[in-house]
Amino acid sequence: MERTAVLERFDVDRVRKDFPILTRTVNGKPLVYLDNGATTQKPRQVIDAIVNYYTQLNSNVHRGVHHLSQLATDAFEVTRRKLQPFINATHEHEIILTKGTTESINLVASCYGKAFVNTGDELIISAMEHHSNIVPWQILCEERGAILHVVPVNDAGELDMETYRSLLNERTKMVAMTYVSNALGTINPVKEIVALAHAVGAPVLLDAAQAIQHIAIDVQALDVDFLAFSGHKMYGPTGVGVLYGKEKWLNAMPPYQSGGEMIKEVTFAKTTYNELPFKFEAGTPNIEAGICLTHALDYITELGLDNIASYEYDLLKYATSQLLEIPGLRLVGTAKEKSSVISFLLDGVHPYDVGVILDKLGIAVRTGHHCTQPLMDRFNIPGTVRASIAMYNTREEMDILVAAVRRAATMLL
Ligand SMILES: Cc1ncc(COP(=O)(O)O)c(C=O)c1O
Repeated sequence: MERTAVLERFDVDRVRKDFPILTRTVNGKPLVYLDNGATTQKPRQVIDAIVNYYTQLNSNVHRGVHHLSQLATDAFEVTRRKLQPFINATHEHEIILTKGTTESINLVASCYGKAFVNTGDELIISAMEHHSNIVPWQILCEERGAILHVVPVNDAGELDMETYRSLLNERTKMVAMTYVSNALGTINPVKEIVALAHAVGAPVLLDAAQAIQHIAIDVQALDVDFLAFSGHKMYGPTGVGVLYGKEKWLNAMPPYQSGGEMIKEVTFAKTTYNELPFKFEAGTPNIEAGICLTHALDYITELGLDNIASYEYDLLKYATSQLLEIPGLRLVGTAKEKSSVISFLLDGVHPYDVGVILDKLGIAVRTGHHCTQPLMDRFNIPGTVRASIAMYNTREEMDILVAAVRRAATMLL
């Protein structure tokens, strides 16, 4: 899309006014927040909802007959109701509210693993996974005597689909892959990944932690079996996340944690379990976060994810081309399909040193391995400097980033 058309459809100045933190300074400079892959800032609508919750609604959910408990329960369930169309789940009860992506993936590894994974079975992940989509599967493989296969990535940071095809077979019991790489920005061909896995009868879990805030996701169109994401990376509160699972899998899996809420009836002789989604929601949830995630969903929905995506893509292209003009700068992750992440290195310079200089100039980026140590090993680097873009970033901020990296390069190279 032409830049003017993108800008016409997306009023970034209006968006920025909704994010109070963006007006603050850091080290005497206006904050340029480019650590959105780690967590996003929150709009006033979410912040106000948190205050409103504690001043008007605070009460435990799903338990009381009293007025406040009813109000809190209704507000909590509104989030689930809105999440269903947001990802186009078939049923509302396929939406499990968790602590975040990490807990969602652990839940599947643990519960699906107990029900379906046995000695000699095979699981497939990729070389670009976040640790939270590696370690749960490693633990499962150790427990069940299963084998973990890893699909390699090429030098651009794209999945080697030939190897993926060759790894799939009738022993494959799960494919767990990220939709968008948090370290490289690569967008994986998820529809193809799912179709190929289904051809051998294997379900697919997509880690959508870095996709849900940038790409409109339709779980039915993708035909994906499980989807995991975090509220705090999509302008919502911390402490709440989502596991979408197809009803047929969730019904066939044993509970994750046990305690209040997840039971139908408890006697000392036997306990029966609650229906979906409550079977997987033991104990008091993060009520405030669950309720206030609604306001982040409304915010994104009102702007439209397609508009957000084209606006952010314009920033990505703009900043990438400018950064590439800096002598000694190397991009890590040059996939054809990319979203919102620019990872780079200055020749022979530790990413941490670049990060410190950028911080002094008010620019928040992330440096290090980004919880993807195996991926860093693949590229034979200790880590990268990562600027990750959100919908409230601007071209002016990209200019500030580029000027600051140029300055760091003159100081460090
Ligand atoms: C791709 C990916 N998966 C999983 C996670 C873990 O998310 P959380 O810490 O919110 O559980 C992250 C966080 O950065 C991520 O980027």
